[in-house]
Amino acid sequence: MSMVATAGADALVVTRGQTRAGEAVPPASGAPLAAGSLRATDAAAPLLTLQDISLSFGGVTALQAIDLQVTTGEIRAVIGPNGAGKSSLLNVVSGLYRPDSGVVLLGDKGFRHVPTSRLAALGVARTFQNLALFKGLSVLDNVMMGLVHHRRAGFLRQIVVSPRARREEADSRAAAEAMIEFLHLEPAKDRIAGGLPYGVQKRVELARALVARPKLLLLDEPFAGVTLTEKHELAQHVRNARDTYGTTIVLIEHDIGVVMGLSDRVAVLDHGRKIADGTPDQVRADQAVIDAYLGVAHEGETELVA
Ligand SMILES: Nc1ncnc2c1ncn2[C@@H]1O[C@H](COP(=O)(O)OP(=O)(O)O)[C@@H](O)[C@H]1O
Ligand SMILES: [Mg+2]
Repeated sequence: MSMVATAGADALVVTRGQTRAGEAVPPASGAPLAAGSLRATDAAAPLLTLQDISLSFGGVTALQAIDLQVTTGEIRAVIGPNGAGKSSLLNVVSGLYRPDSGVVLLGDKGFRHVPTSRLAALGVARTFQNLALFKGLSVLDNVMMGLVHHRRAGFLRQIVVSPRARREEADSRAAAEAMIEFLHLEPAKDRIAGGLPYGVQKRVELARALVARPKLLLLDEPFAGVTLTEKHELAQHVRNARDTYGTTIVLIEHDIGVVMGLSDRVAVLDHGRKIADGTPDQVRADQAVIDAYLGVAHEGETELVA
């Protein structure tokens, strides 16, 4: 297990669907999987699939033989107690962690180790469990950062301010302003991010992750540490993002109550294993979930009808 992503080193061959012209598949290291094992036949292929993902840190098993499917356009929650492996799962999908075994399929591309450097190009964006804003920059500048990987003018051209760089700057600003408006952040647009209430900062992070219009958005505990009112607001924004932009969302959450009204399907992790997967009602009624999770986590559970 290594924790630093090596760009493209572990990409597999594309075996599902079609490769778009000009979209090069990075060189595969080791033997590619047998094509048949990745091939999907239906048109409604999932946007994200985890196949048999395992990951350990020394003696600690963070993820054990995890299978997970996320369908295009769905809000998919992954819940579980602290230490269950939720963040590790997101870190595998976003390439920060390299699993010991298994495959991650993003659309029609399969990876042993997702290349972090190509995440933006793959249409994936994420937020982190702990805020990762540029605290000294304005809200607008923070949101524009979400487009950095999409701008084409090279660094040097941006420094000497070529016409192309200037145009891209204007486009980025317009896109960021539109996303700021979408998330009702206009009053905070020119404020320094670090001075804003925590819940507003969480919304700025959401804006930064959404501004490039990712196909897949990974949110690690977006509701942690915010007030109940802010939770409701954030949940509504997450749903609006899916409804407006068609963004597929994987949402990590500690608290089962928060995801009930928001998610289409919920997977439950416990000690690195997936112990249940289904609609919120199915999961809530699942005896294994009640035993392993609800029983201990019931205190502080929050009802949230988003
Ligand atoms: N970078 C790491 N180094 C060592 N252990 C880790 C690391 N990341 C996660 N773990 C361990 O893996 C397990 C799952 O952690 P994590 O994925 O953060 O759980 P969750 O997000 O559900 O709280 C825990 O036992 C944690 O200590
Ligand atoms: Mg976590």
